[in-house]
Formats: sequence, structure tokens, C-alpha cells
Amino acid sequence: MKLNVGVFFGGESVEHEVSIISAHQAMNALNKDKYNVIPIYVAKDRKLYSSPLLEDMSNFKDLTGLLNKCTQVNLYQADNHVVIHPVQKSLFSKKDLGTLDLAIPVMHGTNGEDGTIQGFFEMLKLPYAGCDLIAAAVGQDKVLQKHTLENSGLPVTPWFWVYSEEFESKRDEILERVHKIGYPVILKPACTGSSVGISIAHNDAEYIECFEDAGQYDAKVITEQVVAPMREMNCSVIGEPFQARASAIEEVFHGADTDFLDFKDKYQGGSKGSAKSSGSKGMASVSRLVNPDLPEETTRTIQSLALETFRVLGSSGVCRIDFMMNADSGEVYVNEINTIPGSLAFYLWEASGLHFSELMDQLVDLTLTRERRRSRMTYSYDTNLLSTYTESSGAKSAKGAKR
Ligand SMILES: Nc1ncnc2c1ncn2[C@@H]1O[C@H](COP(=O)(O)OP(=O)(O)O)[C@@H](O)[C@H]1O
Ligand SMILES: [Mg+2]
Repeated sequence: MKLNVGVFFGGESVEHEVSIISAHQAMNALNKDKYNVIPIYVAKDRKLYSSPLLEDMSNFKDLTGLLNKCTQVNLYQADNHVVIHPVQKSLFSKKDLGTLDLAIPVMHGTNGEDGTIQGFFEMLKLPYAGCDLIAAAVGQDKVLQKHTLENSGLPVTPWFWVYSEEFESKRDEILERVHKIGYPVILKPACTGSSVGISIAHNDAEYIECFEDAGQYDAKVITEQVVAPMREMNCSVIGEPFQARASAIEEVFHGADTDFLDFKDKYQGGSKGSAKSSGSKGMASVSRLVNPDLPEETTRTIQSLALETFRVLGSSGVCRIDFMMNADSGEVYVNEINTIPGSLAFYLWEASGLHFSELMDQLVDLTLTRERRRSRMTYSYDTNLLSTYTESSGAKSAKGAKR
């Protein structure tokens, strides 16, 4: 019997459009002999929509018109599946719009990649592909992520973080820490992505300006030593935390107008030197070179650091780990993990001999394997607390029981 696979995409982050592209690539790659592919679009106001019309990318040119023709839906849990339920049932429409056996979230950034939608799937008891709630949250929060990487002995650049609200009261202390790292430094909001709110400061005046900007996007701001001259390498990993495989490596290039990869470079495509743009859209449009010119030992180092990053962050499914390399010394630093990478990093896997449809099969298999393992675990214990409950003992025993 075919599995009903819901592909969730859209969302309210700046990567909304990128998600639409990535999801359509993924839907096309899913083998229709094995799966009924059901698109679920998450609008910017978090309403969910379902319709076969969502399968056709060209319909997104007129989003308002498209949504008027789609059905707004809710999801609810039934016995061993999740039901797609229209919010407003028309007189003639069928009661429900079908069921889901499994979800593949193809959403980037806030609410899609940060544990939010994963928490929604958990409450629905809907098996879902990729990182679980906690790994997704840690992967999105650069502060939690860097602490974990650093404590696990992975190479990260010297850094510190503070709450943006603390800037005025701790300004001298903060600037002292910046001077210890040494200018130039790069500032980042903890949880945005797509380079939003990221900038480089060369002196105190610039630092203060950059801090204010970064602080507008997140409660926590990171300050980091700038790697220069820098080359940027990415490597994808697929699997489970304790059993995974690393892909081929790509080198990515930023435009001449910035010192780092900005939104434009990432999603509107650039071209530089010998780097090849693949022609398709999404992350596949970044100026990139798959299998760049690197010493074999560096390639192996990056692949093993990618696997270790994936492991210590508890990741699952297909992720992309981004690295910065000092072009002079060859030193390699882990920059960050992307738990739902643009285009699901299919181009790195095709370069590693894994076809996109096989990649999607593996994602589904990993989801089902995790589900089977989880169903064997013990999450609750039978207690007889309520059977012994009396009015007078209530407050005391409830307090005593919750430890
Ligand atoms: N320490 C650093 N030194 C130099 N450039 C950096 C450093 N950290 C990030 N960058 C540049 O900024 C870009 C965005 O930073 P990143 O941490 O990846 O944030 P995002 O989550 O927004 O992608 C990177 O792709 C890289 O070009
Ligand atoms: Mg990045």
C-alpha cells in the first residue's frame, strides 16, 4: 500500500519562497509508485492549506488567487494516521480530505527548522522526517549550538554572546571582550538564518551600530572572530546521529559587494570565477563548485567534522554542515548546521552517487525506523496517584510527585 506523505512547506520566515522551491524539488523527486504525495502549504499567517493545485510551482505566481482555490485545513489525530480536515465544510464537499502517514517538513528558518513544526507533529503523533524537536531547536539557536560544539571539542572561532537588552548596562565589559577577540568581528542574531542581521565591525563605533541592528532580530547576539582570508565549504550528512554518511563537498562564493554570504548570494544566485551555477533554483542557484580543489586530507577532515557535528547535535535526516577555512593556514572551523538545507542538498548527494529519488526514499526509511525505535521506548509509567487523592492531601502530593 502506498504511504501518504505530506510535504509541508512555506512558513513565515524570510526563506518562505526558498521553501516553496525546495519543496517542489522534493515533491518531484518522491517516487509516485511508492508514495501519495500530499502538499500542505503553511501560509505566512500560519494557516494550513491543501490542494493538488499546490503541486504546480507556476500556480504560486498569484498566491492570493491560488489560496482562494485551495482548502484551508486542520490536522487531527485518528488511530494510526492523521486526518486532513477542512476548516469550513461546504455542503457538497467530502467530509475529510484524506490522511497522512508521515510528514516531510521542507521549511527553512523560524517555525520550520527550529522545532516549532516538529512539536506540532509530535502532538499529532505524526512521524516526521529530519531532526527531532530538540535537535532542530539546537540547530537553529547559534548560542546553544556553539556551546555544544565547543564542549564537544569541535573547532569553532573565538566567540561570546550576550542578551541585546544587556548592551547598555554592560557596554564596557562587552567592548573589552570584543577587544580581546580583536577587530574585525562579525555579529549575528542567535536565531535568524539567511544572513539576516549579520554584519562585520572594524571598530567600536561600527560595533555599536552592528549590535543595535543584530539586536532587532533576536534577544541574543553573538560576536565572533572573523576568519580571513576565508574559503567556505559545505558538506551534507544523511542518517541518524549514531550512523550517518557524509556527502561530497561544495565550495560557495559570495558576491563582490559583501565580505560574507548574504541573502542575495544565497538565493538570488551569483556567479564568480570558475564556480558553476547549476541553473535550477533554490540553494542550487548559489554560486558553487562541487568537489572543489582541496587536498585529500582536508576533504577527509571536513567530512569527519561534519559527521561529528551531526552526531553531537543529535541530528537526523539530511542536514548540511557549513565550514569556514582560513585560506592561508588551511585551518577549518565549523560554522553551523542547517537542519533543513536548501534543496535538501540533493546536488551534493547526486555528486556522491545518490539520486534525488533515492535520497527521498532514505529520508522516508529513516523516519519509519526512528518511529519504530521510539515506539519501543518507555515514556510514561502507570501511577496510582489519583486513586489515593483526597482534597486535603491534594496540594501536598501533587507537589511531592512533580520533581
Ligand atoms: N566567523 C566568520 N568569519 C567570516 N565570515 C563569517 C563568519 N561567520 C559567518 N561568516 C559569513 O557570514 C555568512 C552567514 O553566517 P552564518 O553564521 O552562516 O549565518 P546564517 O545562519 O544566517 O547563514 C556565512 O555564510 C559566511 O559567509
Ligand atoms: Mg549559514
